[in-house]
Amino acid sequence: MNLVVGVGLRAGTPYQELRDLVAGALAEAGAGTVRYVVTVAGRETEPGLQRLTASLGAELQTAAPEELARHPVPTPSQAVEHLTGVPSVAEAAVLATGAELVVTKRRSAQATAAVGRLPEVPPAPGYLAEERAVVHRVIAERRDVRRGFLDLPVDDEVLLRVLEAGHRAPSVGLSQPWDFLLIRDVATRRKVHELATAQRDAFAASLPADRRGAFDGLKIEAILDTPLNIAVTCDPGRGGRHVLGRHADPRTTWFSAAIAIQNLWLAARAEGLGVGWVSFFAPDEVAAVLNLPAHIEIVGYLCVGHVEEFAAAPELVRTGWAARRPLAWAVHHEEWGRRASIVDDAVQAGQDAVPVAGGQRITVIVGGDPATDLKQSDALVVVLRAEKPAADFGVLWRPARTPVEAVELGVEIARDLAMQGVGEIVVRAAGQSAEADALARGLRVGASACGVSCVDEPGGMAHSSP
Ligand SMILES: Cc1cc2nc3c(=O)[nH]c(=O)nc-3n(C[C@H](O)[C@H](O)[C@H](O)COP(=O)(O)O)c2cc1C
Repeated sequence: MNLVVGVGLRAGTPYQELRDLVAGALAEAGAGTVRYVVTVAGRETEPGLQRLTASLGAELQTAAPEELARHPVPTPSQAVEHLTGVPSVAEAAVLATGAELVVTKRRSAQATAAVGRLPEVPPAPGYLAEERAVVHRVIAERRDVRRGFLDLPVDDEVLLRVLEAGHRAPSVGLSQPWDFLLIRDVATRRKVHELATAQRDAFAASLPADRRGAFDGLKIEAILDTPLNIAVTCDPGRGGRHVLGRHADPRTTWFSAAIAIQNLWLAARAEGLGVGWVSFFAPDEVAAVLNLPAHIEIVGYLCVGHVEEFAAAPELVRTGWAARRPLAWAVHHEEWGRRASIVDDAVQAGQDAVPVAGGQRITVIVGGDPATDLKQSDALVVVLRAEKPAADFGVLWRPARTPVEAVELGVEIARDLAMQGVGEIVVRAAGQSAEADALARGLRVGASACGVSCVDEPGGMAHSSP
C-alpha cells in the first residue's frame, strides 16, 4: 500500500515530536510505504519536517493554501484556519494528492498529521497545460471554409501529414474502412461542381421564400476554388465477416470513416490548410462521376487549399443562418431529459445565441399527417403516435411517453428551431390529446424563452407569446 502523510506544523517543531506523532498515525494506517509527506507551501523549509521525510525515504511535497482550501475535511479547526487561512492542513494535504484519507488528524503540541492511501495504479498523466491549450485551440479554431482560398498548391509533405492524421483515426475492429481519393483534375471537378449546383438549386427550391433569400447569400462549396479535392470513401465490408464490434451495429463502419475526416480536418487546420465539406450531392451521382467501384461509398467530399484566414466563428453563425447549441442542452444526467433546466437554457440562448431577428416562419402541425400537411412549404409535422413514420426532414417523430415529456419535447423543438434561424412559430393542433396539448404548451414556453414569436393558428387555442 502506498501512503501519503499530511503534516501541519508550527515553525520550529522538533523532529522528535513529528516522528512520534507520525509513527502513531502510521501504526493506525497499517502496513505500507510512505511515498510523500505533504505540507502547506512555506513549511517545506522546516528542518524537523525535512528530517522526518528523509527518515521515511519519502518525497516532500507542498500544496498552496488555495489548493488545500478546495478540499472539505472531516476534522476542520478554527484555530488552524485562523493561523493558516485553511481549516486543515494535514487532512487537506492528504486529499490534495488524490489519496483516500485512512487516518484522520492526530495532534501533538505543535503539529498535526493525517495519513492517506494513494490509488494503487496512479492515473496516466495528461499533457502539460500549454500543450492541452493547443489541442483545444485547434478544435475551436477549425472551420469549414468555402471562401478566401489562395492560388497556391498544397505541398506534398503537408498533405501527407494531414492524410496520416486521417489514417490514424479509430475504427471499428480496426477495419480502417476509409480511402482518400485525391482529385486535382479540373475536368473531374467541373462534373462534381455541376452536381453540387443542381443540388443547391433543388434545395433552394424547397425553401420557404423568406429562407431562400438568406440561402442565396451563402456559399456552399469551393470545388473549383481549391487546388485539391479529397473524396473520403467507406468500404462497408472491409475486413470481412468477423470485424470486432461491427456485427450488432453496421453504422459503426461509417462512423469510423467520418472520424477519419475529422482527424484530417483538425490536422489541416493545424497546418493552416482550409477544408470545406460538401454534401450537396446524391451519393450515387458523385460516385458515378468519380467512377467508384460499386461497393465503395462516398462519405465526405472535401475541398482543400491554403486560405487567407480562418474566421473566428462558423459562417452559418456569422450570417445569422443558424446558431450554436449551448453544451448544457446536449448533456443529460443519468437519464434522458435530466438537464440543468431546459427553460433556463432556452432563456440563456435567447440572450446570447439566437439570430432570430427577421427569422423564418414555420408552421408546426402537432399530430399532423405528413401525407397532406407537408404540401405546405413552411410546415413541420410533429408525429406523436408510437409507429415510426417514413423518414422525411419535414417530420419530427416525437412519441412522448408522458405529458411532462411532451412539454419538454415541445420546448426542445422550439429552441432547436430558433438555432436554425426560425423567428416565428405558428402552432396548429391537428389532433386532441393530452400529449398534443402538452407539446403545444412546450412549444410556446420554449419559443417565449428563446425570444421567438409563437402564435396559435387562428381557430385554434387562444394563446400567444411575444
Ligand atoms: C457532414 C457535413 C456536411 C457538410 N456539408 C456542407 C455543405 O455541403 N456545404 C457547406 O457549405 N458546408 C457544409 N458543412 C459544413 C457545416 O456547415 C459547418 O461544419 C458548420 O456550419 C459549423 O461550422 P464550422 O465547421 O466552421 O465550425 C458540412 C459539415 C459536415 C460535418
